[in-house]
Amino acid sequence: MSRRDDLYRHQTASAGSFRFDEQVVEVFPDMIDRSVPGYALLVPMIGQLSKRFVQPQSVVHDLGCSLGAVSLSVHQALLADQPPAGVRIVATDNSPAMVKGLQQALEGLDQSAISVEARCADLRDSDFQNCSFAILNFTLQFLELDARDELLQRLCAGLRPGGALVLAEKINFDDPAEQERLTHWHHDYKRLQGYSELEIARKRNALEAVLITETEARHRARLQAAGFAQVTRWFQCFGFCAWVAEKA
Ligand SMILES: C[S@@+](CC[C@H](N)C(=O)[O-])C[C@H]1O[C@@H](n2cnc3c(N)ncnc32)[C@H](O)[C@@H]1O
Repeated sequence: MSRRDDLYRHQTASAGSFRFDEQVVEVFPDMIDRSVPGYALLVPMIGQLSKRFVQPQSVVHDLGCSLGAVSLSVHQALLADQPPAGVRIVATDNSPAMVKGLQQALEGLDQSAISVEARCADLRDSDFQNCSFAILNFTLQFLELDARDELLQRLCAGLRPGGALVLAEKINFDDPAEQERLTHWHHDYKRLQGYSELEIARKRNALEAVLITETEARHRARLQAAGFAQVTRWFQCFGFCAWVAEKA
């Protein structure tokens, strides 16, 4: 069980100080669930979606996997029916504390039909050859803007025909009034989850210039330029969106 996230209740946070370190890892499942509306739906749904795209003898990449919630969801979903043969799930994160937590979660997991490999590495160094399904669940937003185009181009090039990427991101809006409304409503969600005004303000400050959002139009343009044939938005709550990008 994850500890309740009270990180910013007692400590101040300088602008841009947010890191995926031991302190965050200790409270991460609670933090992401109470901060990202829909996270509890997205994780099992990505597992469910994986059944449509994962091909036998292929690799699934969970990029920026944190504690492996999505990898474990895909593993469970694929095992539920007739599991495709020869599938490997590669879960990559560059936070040693996260990967340590994932390795603990993998202890005792039956990997005889489908393996889950935890990798502590920069996701940009991944080899996407033979991949049929990839997930960037609230991870791309932590990469420098410059790195995003190349990553998605390489990913799409490596994907097998018929494969897909699930991308989930916090986005921003061109219309300042819409941006303001949805920011307020997201903060209402956080209040509903028990966060105080001070905690909301401190976390926002800590994420300044660490989490860099883009518009949906920018994401769609990048996915299209990378070579994805079809992009479908299947989830939105406030500024939190998820798309399936399919390769023809
Ligand atoms: C918001 S969390 C992602 C949540 C996770 N995908 C899930 O569904 O539970 C972002 C993660 O991306 C990782 N990350 C950020 N930049 C990365 C990079 N360049 N390479 C690998 N992992 C990265 C962070 O360490 C963090 O664990």
